[in-house]
Amino acid sequence: MHPVVTDLSAELWQSAVRVLDINWSGDHMVPSRRLYPHQWSWDTAFIAVGLAYVNPTRAWRDLHSLFEAQWPDGRVPHIAFDPATGEEDYFPGPAFWNVPAYGRRRPLGSTGIVQPPVHALAAWEVYRHAAAHGAASVQEALNELAWLYPRLVAQQDYLSERRNAGGAGLAAIVHPWESGLDNSPSWDAALANVPADLSLLTRYHRRDLVVTNAAHRPTDEDYARYVRLAVSYRDGGYSDTDLPQRHDFVVECPGFNGVLGVAELALAQIAGVLGLPLDARRHRQRAREITAAISRTLWDPATRTFRSRDVRTGELSAARCVNGLLPLMLPDLSADRAAAIMDELRSERFGLPAPSTDRTAAYFDTHRYWRGPVWINVNWLLRRGMQVHGHHGEAEELRRALLRLVHDNGPYEYFDPETGKGLGAPTFSWSAALCLDLLADRSAPAYARDA
Ligand code: GLC
Repeated sequence: MHPVVTDLSAELWQSAVRVLDINWSGDHMVPSRRLYPHQWSWDTAFIAVGLAYVNPTRAWRDLHSLFEAQWPDGRVPHIAFDPATGEEDYFPGPAFWNVPAYGRRRPLGSTGIVQPPVHALAAWEVYRHAAAHGAASVQEALNELAWLYPRLVAQQDYLSERRNAGGAGLAAIVHPWESGLDNSPSWDAALANVPADLSLLTRYHRRDLVVTNAAHRPTDEDYARYVRLAVSYRDGGYSDTDLPQRHDFVVECPGFNGVLGVAELALAQIAGVLGLPLDARRHRQRAREITAAISRTLWDPATRTFRSRDVRTGELSAARCVNGLLPLMLPDLSADRAAAIMDELRSERFGLPAPSTDRTAAYFDTHRYWRGPVWINVNWLLRRGMQVHGHHGEAEELRRALLRLVHDNGPYEYFDPETGKGLGAPTFSWSAALCLDLLADRSAPAYARDA
């Protein structure tokens, strides 16, 4: 067991390790056995952060498996499908996405949409902890970093170039699922322009409602829109050309782009370790550019908050959601913007741990997925932001609050922000994995200050 884990938290540590053992599928981790029986992209990154403490070889294996599904254009699919899992076990499954063979990948091996690029940060974290496991682990980490680095760069290039649909230097998402915050109110305005054809749900059946509570999941109307957008992107050959003209949903998310910027900083660290100082400098420059683009394009001066932006209309969303707080992770964010995020976080609208949306808003729903519940991963990212901007007291308060939540309620997928009751999948991999990091790591992140 990690030396800084106290007796009080030993129970939580053991149960988190157990979840990661149960959810290991040989060469990848599933987010949860019943609800999510394949490999998910940003889950893999958060899971690696926890595995770094207990089984770094699995962390690398998991990242490796995901990047083996990377497309030749650099995109990392939001799901890498497990061929041993049946089509009927998950919707929308391999046949729905109908992805052709690419590289050495068989047909129907993945989806064609992405998720936030947390992987460079995760790889850096696993590397950072390798020394604690001995010399062989350090060598393994160096080999894996060398393998991953060009792939992580290709992922960034895909997002920064092909997805720069708005021309501001930000990555646009083409589906709410790409944000990782599936049914967040952040997408309501942009989604209102997408027809909700409920007959699509008679052709394609939702499986999530078979295995979990409908009141905790997106509504059928939203789901019909999700299916329509996925079909439209798929039938356009997953092309990103002329997106705003061709596709019904093209949105810039402050959370996704905050992660994009942080990934450049992690890549700068990795390039440094690999002896590539010029690349390291280029990554730091890219992080500054992304930070400036977020500040310029996604900032609402009237409310002093970051919002998502509909690229097709140019409008900022009216909804105040947790993704608007995530630019705090960027060390080059101005003191003024960082202070505004902290004010928002401290206000009655959020608080610690942060719910996924504004508690005072009409759309706030304590049970419905990303429309209110507390999620561990975004709070973990927020904690890093607090550390980066020197709010160590609140970062510690948040660390304790998250651990208490999981300790008292179990490693659930998400939590009622009023009662703490666990919701969704009960043994959820990233909730367990990030607890290991929260239990063990009280230090400031290594990229805290720009070199
Ligand atoms: C849900 C979440 C998404 C996550 C996936 C697998 O779709 O909204 O963020 O990656 O489940 O855990």
